[in-house]
This record gives sequence, C-alpha cells and structure tokens, in this order.
Amino acid sequence: MKLTKELLNNLIEITSNSAIACFPYIGKNEKILADKAATDVMREQLNNLNIKGKVVIGEGELDEAPMLYIGEKLGRGNGPEIDIAVDPVEGTNFVAKNLPGSMSVLAVAEKGKLLNAPETYMEKIATGSHIPKGCIDIDFTVEKNINIYSDITNKKKSEITVCILNRPRHSKIISELKRLNVNIKLITDGDVSGALLVSNKKYNVDIFMGIGGGPEGVIVAAALDSLNCNFQGRFLFKTETDIKRAKDMGIKDLNKKYEINEIVRGESFFCATGITSGELMNGVIKEENNYITETIFTYNKSDLNVVKKIISLT
Ligand code: FBP
Repeated sequence: MKLTKELLNNLIEITSNSAIACFPYIGKNEKILADKAATDVMREQLNNLNIKGKVVIGEGELDEAPMLYIGEKLGRGNGPEIDIAVDPVEGTNFVAKNLPGSMSVLAVAEKGKLLNAPETYMEKIATGSHIPKGCIDIDFTVEKNINIYSDITNKKKSEITVCILNRPRHSKIISELKRLNVNIKLITDGDVSGALLVSNKKYNVDIFMGIGGGPEGVIVAAALDSLNCNFQGRFLFKTETDIKRAKDMGIKDLNKKYEINEIVRGESFFCATGITSGELMNGVIKEENNYITETIFTYNKSDLNVVKKIISLT
C-alpha cells in the first residue's frame, strides 16, 4: 500500500494551510487573488513532500499557469508515485462574497488510478451507500430515478430531497422535480459539497444530480467511493478544443458513462478544509495567535472523518 497515514496527515496539513492562505481574501471580492494565494501554498507544500506526484485534475493547462496545471509534477521525486487532484479553492465566489461553503480540496490515488479529466463539464448523479449499486442511473429519466429511489427507501416522493446547482441549464430537471413534488435543494455553487451531502442521512439530501465541473466530479468520486456511495458521470464537450484535449488525454469514447470505479480505482484519499463555514465543516477561525481549521477526510472506507487543527501564526 503506497498511501500511508503519514501522507494523509500531510495532505490535511496542506489543505489547512491553503485554506488559511485564503482567509485574508474572504469577503474581498477578489476570487482570482484568493485562488492564487491558496494555490501557491498548496504547490509549495506538495513540492516539499517525499512523493513523485503528478497533477491529473488541476486548474487548466500549462499555459494557464500560475494555477496548478494538469500534468504538473509535484514533490521531491523520491517517494511513492501518486496522482493528485487539486482544487485549492472550491467555491471561489463563496470566498469572494463571504458566503458559506468554500473549501480547499485535495484527492490522491496511486499512479494511474485516478481518471485524467479535462476541464470541461460533467453530468453527474450521486446517492448514498443505502442504495444498492446499479439501481439509479444517469441515463434514466428524472421520474424513473425518483420512483426507484422511492421504492427502495419507502419514502414518499414528497419526502425525497434532490440537490442540484441553480443554473438555467437545469431548468427542465427542476421543473420535473417540482411536478413530482420532490424537495429541491438549490445550491448556487460548490457541487463537491452538494454531492457529498448524500453520504450521510443527517444532511437530508437523497440524490445529487445535474451538470457541474468535470474536475469536481472526479474529486468527489474519490470521496464517495471511500464512503461506499454511488456516483456516475459523463463528460460534456462543447468546443473542438475540449474534444481535442479529451482525445489527447486518451479519452476515446466522448459519450462514455463513467461508473465510480472507472473514475477512481483502488484506494484514494480525499481531504477538504473549510475556508468559510458550511454544512460539512467550519471555516477558518483566527483566534489570537492561532488559526483553527476543520478538515473532513476519507480514509479506509470509514465515515466522513473530521479533524480540527490549530496552526500557529508565527
Ligand atoms: P469555482 O470554485 O472554480 O468557482 O467552482 C465552483 C463551482 O460551483 C463548482 O462547484 C461547480 O462544479 C462549477 O463551479 C459549476 O460551474 P458553472 O458555475 O460554470 O456552472
């Protein structure tokens, strides 16, 4: 096993520090600067690890640096070979506007075990571990999926909650959910968190669906896989450039429906530190000479763990 507890602890430290780097930008309406601050710290600290890492999910291509770009090599080059998915700030608008739910995120797997995904949109559907594999399907109609969910769980449609990004592209799905009398949890951003809400009944979200970022889809699949939840995704390519990038990355079937175990194969780590407080964890708190952070992580098929860190200012 190449993914050690020591590596996980290092990753938790790194997302904590990148969340702290973002702290001065909360509510400053400067999402690019916030992203850069978090990215710089994440890059510097990943480069200090004894790993031979490669970014497989990043923020754009080489020419779009200074973001952590797809293909970027990270680490001292003297440790395990790992694939890294980065999202230094998930929910840049939340940071800029001081709204709940932003976080700094990393996911890793052994080399070759995480899907290399282009920066494009992805259609997604996720449900919790109480739903048997293969029952809910991205290719079924909304109504069919709701009916199946209702049958399996014995919940009335009016007791089912679907989380979805509030976007014009979802107007048909949203109308259909309304017609079925399903509860809708509309989120303005942050579909990593949105999808994670299916992982525990306490969040009161039954199904996550809709189109969001592809990289975010791969990242959340790593967490949902560890939590034994269900996830399917399908990339959506709009432009010729998108299609070329996908082909260059080895994606042959552009219309492929990815099952969770085709996105993440084998063991993976996921960790996310709150920047602003949200449903999953608290944001960064500054207290005298310390920052207090909260990080959720997945480890060895256990529940979503939370760890608090106190990091000194000096
Ligand atoms: P950023 O943090 O990069 O701004 O992404 C936020 C987000 O809401 C993601 O969670 C989601 O996958 C994506 O944007 C949706 O994209 P769009 O805003 O273009 O619909």
